[in-house]
Amino acid sequence: MSDCNTRIIAPSVLASDWAQLKSEIERADAAGADWIHLDVMDGIFVENISFGPKFVGAVRPHTSLTLDVHLMITHPDNYIPQFVRAGADCITVHVEADHDVSATLKAIRDAGKKCGLAFNPATPFDAVVPYLKQIDLLLVMTVVPGFGGQSFMEEETMPKAQAAHAYREEHGLSYHIEVDGGIDHETVHIAGDNGANVMVAGTSLYGAEDMTRAITAMRG
Ligand code: DX5
Ligand code: ZN
Repeated sequence: MSDCNTRIIAPSVLASDWAQLKSEIERADAAGADWIHLDVMDGIFVENISFGPKFVGAVRPHTSLTLDVHLMITHPDNYIPQFVRAGADCITVHVEADHDVSATLKAIRDAGKKCGLAFNPATPFDAVVPYLKQIDLLLVMTVVPGFGGQSFMEEETMPKAQAAHAYREEHGLSYHIEVDGGIDHETVHIAGDNGANVMVAGTSLYGAEDMTRAITAMRG
């Protein structure tokens, strides 16, 4: 994983054409994506149902990019080995889910993978502070998770990205700060100005006429 000051663009496969999964992954790779973001939803932690470890495993052979797996599921601790076997490079779990957060993060690390912690727009920064020393990535959700194509929640979330950045610098830590939801060629720069470096984008990249140009416009 690159350092936490480098901007990383991560197209979200949720917005791709799943019937053409192989070529959609190759398209993102060829367009200059840095990571591939994969949204796992269980219909309980969030309203929507997406895909599971088998889908992640189907993506794996088609790119050597980092697979950034975002688990929006109630019991992420029960599924870590399956996502590790599927080929995830970074696994992010939610602080609001029903598990021993610290133990789950440790299990991901012990499996040799990077670990991330996500928190929802309504969850205060204080809720993630106890775990910041044990993570590689902090995911500041910029929409209520569950669906692609929603609007970026600037007022609710950017103060938390700033707080995460200030805390990291103050404590000599090195976690990436990722934003996810409503990221496009404009909001990406707002997120960057507030301290985020990993930019997840579904609709604005997979829906773009020219993904290479759309990614270039996000680099800033
Ligand atoms: C939201 C997901 C996102 C989603 C982003 O629940 O976590 O990763 O794919 O989609 P856009 O970029 O369309 O807001
Ligand atoms: Zn996501």
